[in-house]
Amino acid sequence: MFVQRKFVIILPLLVMSGIPLHSIDFQSTGVYPHPLPDNLFRGINFGNSLEAPAGEESWGIYINETDFDVVKQAGFDTVRIPVKWSSHSLDSSPFTINETFALRVDEVIQQGLQRNLSIIINIHHFDVLMVDPILNKDWFISLWEQISDRYKDHPSKLFFEVLNEPRGALLSDDAKWNEIQNAAIAKIRETNPTRKIIVTGNFVSSYSTLDDLNLPADDNLIATFHYYNPLDFTHQGATWTPIQYPIGKRWEGTDAQKNSIVNSFNMVASWSFETKIPVIMTEFGVIDHANIDDRARWTAFVARTAEERNIAWTYWDFKARFAAFNETTQTWIPELLEALIAPYSPPSLTTIIPSPEESRSYLVDTNTNQNNSLLSIPISVFIIPILLIIQVRKKQKSNFIILVNKVF
Ligand code: BGC
Repeated sequence: MFVQRKFVIILPLLVMSGIPLHSIDFQSTGVYPHPLPDNLFRGINFGNSLEAPAGEESWGIYINETDFDVVKQAGFDTVRIPVKWSSHSLDSSPFTINETFALRVDEVIQQGLQRNLSIIINIHHFDVLMVDPILNKDWFISLWEQISDRYKDHPSKLFFEVLNEPRGALLSDDAKWNEIQNAAIAKIRETNPTRKIIVTGNFVSSYSTLDDLNLPADDNLIATFHYYNPLDFTHQGATWTPIQYPIGKRWEGTDAQKNSIVNSFNMVASWSFETKIPVIMTEFGVIDHANIDDRARWTAFVARTAEERNIAWTYWDFKARFAAFNETTQTWIPELLEALIAPYSPPSLTTIIPSPEESRSYLVDTNTNQNNSLLSIPISVFIIPILLIIQVRKKQKSNFIILVNKVF
């Protein structure tokens, strides 16, 4: 959430050209997408409930058992349940989790599993870890020790997601975040040797941080990222973003708007192919202030763009501010349900994604208005010299790409 990494490539040619990515022909690369994660495909978040700081219902949302029936019947296979364990545990050693709260989490997990849904639980809103990761690392690891032990005998359709949206002191500290996340993975593995663990990059789970992960060798990892770009559209009127975006921003699905999304997802698909780690996008969505047609258009485009690259997803959210479901009328918002649960065409073997090198070479700043006037120039004029340079500079990525700005 909140984040868009703005990159500029030092090659002035590319920056000036503003070439839309969909005009690049990837057909020659012969790279196939990585398969979807097991048991995960299309899901939804039961947000603003068990992760509300003062407990379930303190933000007005309670998880009903019938909610699981509603999502199952609609065609979702996965429910992500954000949990703020830190509000319900001792804040000093031994960091014991409150049993009454844990029993409620048990109950909700069980309700989902009984309906053959995949369930993702995470550690959500662990704010003090973001403030002082060193001081609070033991607390974080202890939470994972307790959660892992509690659910070690649960079926494999229960997934653990290490942390929601690392930010604050963890925002850009790759080394610190890798150290903390890997310590959590090691702790989970003591009791859950093969459970699927969903890992994230830092920078509020931006897609662009996957490449900064330094993960242990482990065949049961899945990576996640969150996608809310452009933020001034998806979070218009939100009160919790550092910048308050005015209501009224549109998303008409212009080529430039779509290109921005395709570019991001190509990067993710390339990373997944290169690392052999499957990916699920555990949050994406548009706030209810936005025009409903735009919400549906953006949601459908993001979901299909993910699916075409074998990226699973869980929509944010079920019945809170980004709701796809109207709790009062107990009905789905038809435009959003249609956008999410659309007829599915599996990526065919001819679906091609860019190789990692190609994908990274197009890290243009997609947030600016691009000048398309150079579109008529043959693409090879730009691409061939760039690819040659990439071959030389492949091992020096940090010199090649300059991170110039980070926006919330
Ligand atoms: C936060 C929610 C927020 C959503 C969209 C989630 O990660 O936990 O509180 O509504 O992102 O901004």
